[in-house]
Amino acid sequence: GSYDSRRSTRIAGTNDTMSAQILDGRAISAEIRSDIKKQVDGLLAVGGRRPGLAVVLVGENPASQVYVRNKQKACAEVGFHSELHALDADVSAKDLLALIDDLNARESIDGILVQLPLPAHMDEEAIIERILPTKDVDGFHPYNVGRLVLRMPLLRPCTPKGVMTMLGRTGRSLSGLDAVIIGQSNIVGRPMALELLAARCTITVCHSRTKDLAEKARNADILVAAVGRPEFVPGDWVKQGAIVIDVGINRTEDGKLVGDVDFAGASRRASWITPVPGGVGPMTIATLLENTLQAAELHSSQQA
Ligand code: GUN
Repeated sequence: GSYDSRRSTRIAGTNDTMSAQILDGRAISAEIRSDIKKQVDGLLAVGGRRPGLAVVLVGENPASQVYVRNKQKACAEVGFHSELHALDADVSAKDLLALIDDLNARESIDGILVQLPLPAHMDEEAIIERILPTKDVDGFHPYNVGRLVLRMPLLRPCTPKGVMTMLGRTGRSLSGLDAVIIGQSNIVGRPMALELLAARCTITVCHSRTKDLAEKARNADILVAAVGRPEFVPGDWVKQGAIVIDVGINRTEDGKLVGDVDFAGASRRASWITPVPGGVGPMTIATLLENTLQAAELHSSQQA
């Protein structure tokens, strides 16, 4: 039967039951938050300053409102100062830039995060470029992107960095593995490719014009799905023993949250897989906390 044929094609890195092990983003992120809280307590105990994050939300995108609330909740949990600047969708670029200038200048603010997407009339690049690179905890400023390209990273984009943390938890060496990324966005796909390249993977970045996508996916030792389409990746695109990272968060018509991967199908073949929810999502937020602490360290060493 199919069970026997799966066993007969087992390769190194697969587990005994041929059912993937779960990369538990909730558990890993809870460890990270607990570790950061200890570091904040230590900072305060020696008279240090509380790290501070400013979150800027423009307009009323419901998904963005949820993300921003979760980011602030996480800040409170670890003892960071956080403040929300909620602006009307029709705020002028001039007023938004003036707010960023103000936050750049404030000593109590270590991180500035402008939640994306911005309303269509706004120039996202111009807004992001106004953030001081040492306060750019999203790692989206061209300065930080360039540092990542050159393998001298400073602040690294949260979702790809969080994925690297999860990959570390598999205990597998990444060197020489074939990594296939579906999605080429500035927020996930591109920086994910740079992270995996720095870890000495061979990188394939796929997008809407890619030919023979299934064939490319089936070659992946690490398959990252970041397309934003519910269950876009069927189980039979997953190579036996592959590590599957699902960055998607999609709400179906009946209100259920699903990823970009058919989880049931993929977990029969993968060695490791991230669930949705409870996989990459909580890691992105824990990594934002790491970056804010890193930015606070940069600022305190600048002041010394
Ligand atoms: N929108 C989707 N993901 C992100 C993120 O990581 N940071 C910001 N600022 N906006 C986002």
